[in-house]
Amino acid sequence: MSERELKVSKIKDGTVIDHIRGGYALDVVKILGITGKEKKIMTIAINVPSKRFGVKDIVKIEGKALNSQEVNRIALVAPHASINIIHDYTVVEKLEVKLPQAIEGIIKCVNPCCISNSDELVLSKFYVKTEEPLILKCHYCGVTLEQTDVLKQL
Ligand code: CTP
Ligand code: ZN
Repeated sequence: MSERELKVSKIKDGTVIDHIRGGYALDVVKILGITGKEKKIMTIAINVPSKRFGVKDIVKIEGKALNSQEVNRIALVAPHASINIIHDYTVVEKLEVKLPQAIEGIIKCVNPCCISNSDELVLSKFYVKTEEPLILKCHYCGVTLEQTDVLKQL
């Protein structure tokens, strides 16, 4: 490696979210609810060269293991991301992100009159119509949401 190249360090224990579409790393961080104030070491690389995708983003979080719900959330903004669990500098597990068929409670319906936006205690619920481009359909009012509607809410 020449001194002109930037080397992103390996991590000891934690999670590496790799192959995020270029430009979406900050959305991934947001959808995980990470603010940067957690006193965890994090590396975020944006638009770095990738053999497979041209460019990609990477998020490395020391000392954090993602649960399956968090992995599924990532699929909303980065459907091709791969999740690597690292223990003692070694990749011990690779998880594929996968959108669940129904997404409950994470995002709000864009229809103000939707029952999921009323005072009733009704949790939002969407069905995935297509994954790419992302199109969600509200279980209650039938309105459709696109990727940009989801990103705006993060
Ligand atoms: N990684 C890391 N710290 C470690 C081990 C791996 O930050 N201790 C990172 C690597 O830099 C890479 C990702 O975790 O971004 C996956 O590592 P690895 O499976 O070794 O790389 P690849 O074989 O290139 O992965 P893939 O097959 O998913 O492309
Ligand atoms: Zn609705």
